[in-house]
Amino acid sequence: MARFNFNPGPAALPKSVLETAQKEFTNYDSTHMSVLELSHRSKSYEDIHFEAVKRLRSLLDIPEQYEVLFLQGGASQQFAMVPMNFLNSEQSASYIVSGSWSEKALKEAKSIGQAEIYASTKDTNYTKIPDVHSIQNINEKTAYVHLTSNNTIYGTQWRDFPETDTTPLIADMSSDILSRRFDVRSFSLFYAGAQKNLGPSGVTVVVADRQFLEKSRKDIPTIFSYQTHVEKHSLYHTPPTFSIYMLNLVLKWVEEQGGIDAIESLNKQKAEKLYDAIDHSNNFYKGHAEVASRSAMNVTFTLENKELEELFLQEAEEAGFSGLKGHRSVGGLRASLYNAVPLEAVNALCSFMDDFRHRHQ
Ligand SMILES: Cc1ncc(COP(=O)(O)O)c(C=O)c1O
Repeated sequence: MARFNFNPGPAALPKSVLETAQKEFTNYDSTHMSVLELSHRSKSYEDIHFEAVKRLRSLLDIPEQYEVLFLQGGASQQFAMVPMNFLNSEQSASYIVSGSWSEKALKEAKSIGQAEIYASTKDTNYTKIPDVHSIQNINEKTAYVHLTSNNTIYGTQWRDFPETDTTPLIADMSSDILSRRFDVRSFSLFYAGAQKNLGPSGVTVVVADRQFLEKSRKDIPTIFSYQTHVEKHSLYHTPPTFSIYMLNLVLKWVEEQGGIDAIESLNKQKAEKLYDAIDHSNNFYKGHAEVASRSAMNVTFTLENKELEELFLQEAEEAGFSGLKGHRSVGGLRASLYNAVPLEAVNALCSFMDDFRHRHQ
């Protein structure tokens, strides 16, 4: 039986990537060693490491003046590293709060310095993205503005990022990086845990403008300083070598699919198909997010009651669909449609939903 993986992260990886990793597992590139066994100072590993940087630069069109880092600690560590590096005692940081992950990012900033909410949609139970289009003339003591590009738990996503004047803009892009085209130059820094669109867990990608990095604080522990990792090209200490190897394979796969534009167009198709099934269900399935804020990555919806949702999950599991349970803080159902989820899986899910509705409405 086919298994369709809609996990929110760690999530589906391209089958061909898994097969390549399997084939190379015990003998990488005629080394007669696994990538897991290579020294991070060896040429074989360094080739993987720098190829991944090059591929990411090319796919996201990252300008030369930006650094690309591969760090550990997940996106959650970035919640702390950003204020540790960029918030001093004379400044404050502004957070656009659009869900639980932004709340967590704000909490970390508050533990380090002064941080405040610039805008929030908490009062709507995060059914939409805050109405912020332009951030101008913000207090000159504002160190940066932080946003979450895609809210994995609530299923909302920024369409167009706000314009800022001189205020640095920082984004957590964990759950939609590499899913669509955006202008890297709009951001002073963005970061993403790899375990949704980029590869397995264990590596976190950080992309930052060099000029912005120069402003970072020097009085913090070495390991948390971005400059440490810039100077050593993310090889200051042992990097998560196998995760970076997998990341490189995933990036190669994205290239083979036709790059970001092809991926974006397929992602749109997948999301439209599923939202269409929700919208044409006679209110049997109810979308959590407001239409204008809907995410193409995480589709969140509910049914009439908890019992029906439980039954849906049970039948779905039996029919070969995994990972459809909504996050415990929201409940309901969620289908994550990251890059590696094929259109075929979405078509199958829509047919299942249609069938389930006819049997239970
Ligand atoms: C948007 C977003 N930010 C941050 C995180 C936390 O990432 P990590 O587990 O890598 O710390 C997640 C995890 O799902 C996420 O979806």
